[in-house]
Amino acid sequence: MSNAHWNIKWNGALAMTALASLACLPGAAFAQAADKIKVGFMLPASGTYAALGVAIENGFRMYVGEQGGKLGGREIEYFKVDDESDPAKATDNVNRLIKRDKVDVLVGTVHSGVAMAMARAAKESNTILIVPNAGADAVTGPMCGPTIFRSSFSNWQTAYPMGVVAAKQEGKKNAMTITWKYAAGEEAVNGFKEGFEKNGGKVAKQLTVPFPNVEFQALLTEIAAAKPDAVFAFFAGAGAVKFVKDYHAAGLSKTIPLYGPGFLTDGTLDAQGEAAQGMLTTLHYADELGTERDKAFRTNYAKAYKLMPDVYAVQGYDAAQMLAVGLKAAGGDIGKKDVFRAAVEKATIASPRGDFTLSKAHNPVQDIYLRKVEGKENRKLGVAVKGLADPARGCKL
Ligand code: PHB
Repeated sequence: MSNAHWNIKWNGALAMTALASLACLPGAAFAQAADKIKVGFMLPASGTYAALGVAIENGFRMYVGEQGGKLGGREIEYFKVDDESDPAKATDNVNRLIKRDKVDVLVGTVHSGVAMAMARAAKESNTILIVPNAGADAVTGPMCGPTIFRSSFSNWQTAYPMGVVAAKQEGKKNAMTITWKYAAGEEAVNGFKEGFEKNGGKVAKQLTVPFPNVEFQALLTEIAAAKPDAVFAFFAGAGAVKFVKDYHAAGLSKTIPLYGPGFLTDGTLDAQGEAAQGMLTTLHYADELGTERDKAFRTNYAKAYKLMPDVYAVQGYDAAQMLAVGLKAAGGDIGKKDVFRAAVEKATIASPRGDFTLSKAHNPVQDIYLRKVEGKENRKLGVAVKGLADPARGCKL
């Protein structure tokens, strides 16, 4: 062995000994408590959902900023991975945060398929995960867990009310659905179908395109030929912009109303313009709810980021609020997972969307608004379903 090599080994051993003795000092506990809490953002920074990732991170950072940069007395340090909304890369990406960066908390993501891989990894490593968007029913269903929380919605939860409204209020009888072929789209379509068919409607045909494909022409031609009374679509982000514009350009919006969960028109209205006017959607947020809480949130967000807030910003903000509740109860000690969990389970979160609590499976129990696009806003028409809880099918907690 060369001298240089030996030196490195020897210095390493010395450093280890020094560290070991430091850990025995009475000051060590204090030093540990003063460490930062490591938050790992796993969000899309590229692709069709990139803008959603930005809004979530903005909302999260804004809440932490409002608390002076500390939650539960601990400073927050951020780590980031661009998940590209790619389920095939999800396990490697989440392990970068868990194993390489050794984060205390995972915050992510937008895409349901990626979120399911995150939930699996979080469970295996007993890491706290707060999902600030992805609605995968399984995350608060069969995959639910003591350290897994969601600040957003389940895919069923935002779509079921649109089915009820389409049948009961709008009197539609015969609908077609169209979405990307992956968990979120399929679950949203199933939710719509359940609400619609329970109230006398019938879903005649379900169309899909692969995610994140935006070549819609052939399917729009099929819709035009079939002439249903209504179309229900799940798309979001850049894909939602393209779909709503194509639907309008094909001349369909004049004769066949286009419905969806509010993702179809949230954070997208600047780009959709004329094409989205008058559309009805259901979601757990709307522009200008008029409460003091929401007004303050919207003003501060616009000031901080020079952007109008949307549902994704709200969900990011509330993920930080949930972390704050748990950390505060645990006295800043993220290791006290039972205390953390108990506190978040019994909390009422003062969200810009309105107060919400969590279900047993850790999904928000919340009002779902009926909204109508007017200009650049999703205006609240009323509450489609009050205090709606996801059924949490398959969750054993
Ligand atoms: C999802 O994949 O769960 C998802 C993505 C974007 C949305 C809503 C849900 O806007």
